[in-house]
Amino acid sequence: MGEPRYILVGVAWPYASGSLHLGHLGGAYLPPDVFARYHRMVGNRVLMVSGSDAHGTPITVKADQLGVTPAEVVERYHAEIVGYWEKLGISFDLFTTTMTDNHREVTWDMFRRLEANGYIVTGTSEQFYDPEAERFLPDRYVEGTCPHCGYDAARGDQCDNCGRQLDPVDLIEPRSRITGATPVMKETTHYFLRLSAFQDRILEWLRTREGWRRHVQNMAIGFCEEGLQDRAITRDLTWGIPLPPELDTIGEGKRIYVWFEAVIGYLSASKEWAARQGDPEAWRAWWENPEAETYYFIGKDNIVFHAVIWPCQLMGYGGLNLPTNVPANQYITFKGAKASKSMGVGRSIGWYAERLQPDALRYAIASVFPEQNDTDLSDEELVRRINEELVSTWGNLVNRVLTMVAKNHGGRIPASGVLQPGDVALLSSIDRALEEEAELIERVELRAGLRRVMEAATEVNVYLNANAPWKAEDPERAATVLWVACNAINGLKVGFAPYLPFSSQTLHRMLGLQGEVGDDGWVRSRLEPGLEIGPVEPLFEKVELSQLT
Ligand code: MF3
Ligand code: ZN
Repeated sequence: MGEPRYILVGVAWPYASGSLHLGHLGGAYLPPDVFARYHRMVGNRVLMVSGSDAHGTPITVKADQLGVTPAEVVERYHAEIVGYWEKLGISFDLFTTTMTDNHREVTWDMFRRLEANGYIVTGTSEQFYDPEAERFLPDRYVEGTCPHCGYDAARGDQCDNCGRQLDPVDLIEPRSRITGATPVMKETTHYFLRLSAFQDRILEWLRTREGWRRHVQNMAIGFCEEGLQDRAITRDLTWGIPLPPELDTIGEGKRIYVWFEAVIGYLSASKEWAARQGDPEAWRAWWENPEAETYYFIGKDNIVFHAVIWPCQLMGYGGLNLPTNVPANQYITFKGAKASKSMGVGRSIGWYAERLQPDALRYAIASVFPEQNDTDLSDEELVRRINEELVSTWGNLVNRVLTMVAKNHGGRIPASGVLQPGDVALLSSIDRALEEEAELIERVELRAGLRRVMEAATEVNVYLNANAPWKAEDPERAATVLWVACNAINGLKVGFAPYLPFSSQTLHRMLGLQGEVGDDGWVRSRLEPGLEIGPVEPLFEKVELSQLT
């Protein structure tokens, strides 16, 4: 293997304003974990960061609803969200929040540099104002009808139905979320990010990206071709990061716009991680080294921010790596309705995690990752995927083979004997599957990667049935077949590990091996005859639909 590559895995920062649902898990959080686990196994240096997005109107609107402070909202949901990651093994190197002093400092540094470079300027604009509440109504404080799809509960910042980014003034029949009043226009002063200055550079950059998902590249290019407009990056709010003190000159009650600072979280979290490692400069290996690769895992409603605006911020700052790829997902729909935490449709990740084995849930979600299209999932489909694919193809295979080793071979890996061409062919087919799966994961075709390793498991089942080692007519041949099957499973274990980390580790132990499943790298290691296996238990349980009611 060559030198390790530096891989930065940035994961969308969830608003800590509500529970997350399976749509979020499949759209934004499980894919980066699969990707990061694969790269760690290969031996690359992965830094996977994210955190709770603590600012903006999603948080304050929720605080108003619950009658608590915004900080209390963040505390409550941050704890809940961290609990999901622990239960499901989402392996962040750091999952922090945007409320840290470090994040404020890094945000100010970028604000100051962009201002000094002439990319941030002041300006005035007309904004919605609630005449009854006597306050401005930024972003989610306004609701109305989406001008694109006609959805009647679109919010000022985005439409949850069609996923389009909106500006409050785009809404048809706008109403104040505070009083229900029809907003009036009122002039206010803000700082603006001069996106227009990046128009040519960003388009050129976007058009020359290779290996991006078509829908991502198209949406980003389309957004730029409409003409990049300068954007207000401050808001009339009392919750959020204040302006750098020396630039806090545009009136009372201004805060930095949540989207300007949340994306800076990727950088600030990398610095926080480095400081916690006791090596405060360590972040530079992922941000300043031009060989390092950066991947942002997000849902499609975040594409413009990560593929256009954040790259503009980075270009304006200078010296920091632009995204290598932004493998945004489409939506997972549940019988047609998008699972959105703001609409309260669907059940939380925690709800499912309490009822299913973590790897069973991970399997079912990974097998429908919405990489190219919106993908529908129902509880019935979830249960079917677990029982008819995971349990019957992979779980039963492991169980069959290891039970025979325990019963017929005294719990030791049998002697390999003389391999026949079919035996050798099966093992090379497993090796090929690992190589092809690796190529798919490298291209962030994670759903296909899982399918590839599952196909290889099916081949082992076919091999076993054809060679029937349970028929003891020729004990030596039976031993060879079982040795081959054990070695095949040991290879499949590697291929499944990024998707199914818990059960792959259990299998690693069951095979009598020490250490961690990825210790040998992305290869099938040879199991030596005589190795004593551990106690055999089923890797997965079958699931009943009634468990999900
Ligand atoms: N909080 C945003 C959302 O849930 C995502 C922010 S991603 C970030 O849509 F990078 F900006 F933090
Ligand atoms: Zn819409």
